[in-house]
Amino acid sequence: MTNQSVWNKNWANWKEDFKPSPFAEKAFKLMKIKDMHDVLDLGCGKGRNSLYFAANGMNVTAMDISDEALKTVENLRHPKIRTVCADISKTDLELEKYDAVFACLSLHYFGDAVTRLIINRAHRSLRGGGLFFIRCKSVKDKAYGIGEKVGEDMYFDEWTRHFFRPEYMTDVLSGFETAAVSETEEDYFGVCHFVDGIAVKASS
Ligand SMILES: C[S@@+](CC[C@H](N)C(=O)[O-])C[C@H]1O[C@@H](n2cnc3c(N)ncnc32)[C@H](O)[C@@H]1O
Repeated sequence: MTNQSVWNKNWANWKEDFKPSPFAEKAFKLMKIKDMHDVLDLGCGKGRNSLYFAANGMNVTAMDISDEALKTVENLRHPKIRTVCADISKTDLELEKYDAVFACLSLHYFGDAVTRLIINRAHRSLRGGGLFFIRCKSVKDKAYGIGEKVGEDMYFDEWTRHFFRPEYMTDVLSGFETAAVSETEEDYFGVCHFVDGIAVKASS
């Protein structure tokens, strides 16, 4: 199965729930303080965070590999949301297009080189002073170690998961002017452990 069909199958069985992630709420507070308008929701899924950003006045580009998930976003017919179906490991992003890029649980599926490539693309797609928000599963998460080991902190079980350590997150964000990295936990179908990064691109 291709990566797209794996995700389509997953989303086809997923009940819609538009409650935003607390990480999106935290991100929006910072976007609002900085009077930002354009956000890319990278790996948006069924759009719980895209809808929240749009409802709060942001122009949202909602990007995902799954056309199945994007159908739900498109059915919202929200005038501030534009959908793009693309594989973020293979697609370049428009340069200096966004004030913020938000990637919630969507960048922990790739090996080291592709992870860095995508983060570099996110960096280039931000305007000077732009914000990058990234949340990935942590090595402390209950899913760590399940399935076949396919790389450092990477396991394959239905799909590949790359679990993050705070020092790894700090390293992959080193191209930004500043980056704050924290370990968080949240009840999302059971307690999950994350590593969050909030990074700022240097002003041009
Ligand atoms: C755990 S879901 C998170 C969805 C959403 N960000 C949220 O917080 O509800 C991961 C998402 O990443 C998307 N994804 C996985 N690999 C991708 C790729 N190569 N390109 C684009 N999206 C991808 C999946 O389709 C899925 O929607």
